[in-house]
Amino acid sequence: MTQNRRWTLRAPVDGVRLPTEADFNLEICPVDAPAAGEVLVRAIYLSMDPYMRGRISPARNYSAGVAAGQLMTGRAVAEVIDSRLAGFAPGDIVTGELGWQEIGLMRPPTVRKVDCTQAPMASALGLLGLPGLTAYFALLDLGLPRPGDTVLVTAASGAVGSAVGQIARLAGCRTIAVAGSAAKIAYCLDELRYEAAIDYRSEPDLTAAIGRLAPRGIDVFFDSAGGSVHQAVLPHLAVHARVVICGVMSQYNPIAQSQPSVYNLRHLLVSRAQVKGFLAHDFEHRFDEGRSRLGQWLREGALHCRETISQGIEQAPAALHALLTGDNVGKQLVQVAQEPR
Ligand SMILES: NC(=O)c1ccc[n+]([C@@H]2O[C@H](COP(=O)([O-])OP(=O)(O)OC[C@H]3O[C@@H](n4cnc5c(N)ncnc54)[C@H](OP(=O)(O)O)[C@@H]3O)[C@@H](O)[C@H]2O)c1
Repeated sequence: MTQNRRWTLRAPVDGVRLPTEADFNLEICPVDAPAAGEVLVRAIYLSMDPYMRGRISPARNYSAGVAAGQLMTGRAVAEVIDSRLAGFAPGDIVTGELGWQEIGLMRPPTVRKVDCTQAPMASALGLLGLPGLTAYFALLDLGLPRPGDTVLVTAASGAVGSAVGQIARLAGCRTIAVAGSAAKIAYCLDELRYEAAIDYRSEPDLTAAIGRLAPRGIDVFFDSAGGSVHQAVLPHLAVHARVVICGVMSQYNPIAQSQPSVYNLRHLLVSRAQVKGFLAHDFEHRFDEGRSRLGQWLREGALHCRETISQGIEQAPAALHALLTGDNVGKQLVQVAQEPR
C-alpha cells in the first residue's frame, strides 16, 4: 500500500449548479506515514452528505470550505493499518474525517472506534452517525414531539428523514412523509411505517394534499427541503407548532429553483409557531447519549435503515450528484474496499 488515490477540488463551484466529475481531479499520490497521534487507515465506506455542496461553494458558510487543489472533505469508515495513536491498533474499524481517498490519516478529535459487534459498520455513517444523531437531537430537542402529535417530515426517505419518521412514531406521533418518487413513497409506508406519504414531485396540489392528510394541523414540521415544499406546509401548522429547519435541499441544487422559504409570515403569526434552525455540532457533547439510544433501538429492531451504495472511489463525484438530485434512498455511501472478514 504505497500509493493512494484521492479526489481534489479543481475550483470552488459557485451558484446553485450541480457539481459534476469535471469539478474534481482523481490524483495518485504516495501514502504518508502516520505521525505521533495519528492512525493510517484504509477506507471502506465514504459518506456522501448534502453539506458537501456548501463546502465546495465560495459562499459564506458555518465551516471553512475546500480550496482549489485540496483533498475533498468527508467522513469515512475505515480499517487501521498503522497506528501511532494510543488505544488504536491495526485491524481496528474506525470512523472519522478522512476525505475522498483510499488510504489516509485520521486523528483526534474526529477518529473514533466502531464496535462492529453491535451494528453493521456502515451504520456508523448513517443511523449511528451524523444523520441519525441529527434526526435524534433535532426532532427530540427542537421538535419536542408529544404523543398524538402530527409530525410531517420532508426528504422523508433519506438518511436523516428515515430516522426522524421512525423516532417520531416511537414517540407516539402520527407521521406524514414527503418524498420524491413512487418507490420512496412505498419505502416510507412499507418499511419506515409512516402513516401517510405524499410524492411532492407528482402531487398536483401539495397544499391541498397536506390539508387532507392533516385535518387537525401539523404539530411538528421537520424540514430538510425549504422552497416550495416548505411553503406548502406552512398554511397547515397547528397552534404552537414547532418548525425544525434541518436543511434546505431545494437551495443546494437547481432541481427546484431557489425560492424564499417563508413568503407569508402570517402563517407563523396565526399558528404562533416556533421556527428553529438546527446544527448537529451544537449537540456534540451529547453524541454518546444519542448513539447509545439509537444503537439500542437498532438492535431491538425498532429502527430500520437502508443504504444506497456506489462502488469504487471513481464513483465519488457521481454519488454526490445522485444525492443532490434525490437518486438515493436512505444513506448514500461509496464503498472503496471490501469489509474485512
Ligand atoms: N443541520 C444539520 O446539522 C444537518 C446534519 C445532517 C444533515 N442535514 C440536512 O438534512 C437533510 C437531509 O440530509 P441527508 O444526509 O439525510 O440526505 P438525504 O435525505 O439522504 O438525501 C437528500 C434528499 O434530499 C431530497 N432532495 C433533493 N433535492 C431536493 C429538492 N430540490 N427539494 C427537496 N428535497 C430534495 C431528496 O429526496 P426526495 O427525492 O425525497 O426529495 C434526496 O434524496 C439535508 O438538508 C442536510 O443538509 C443537516
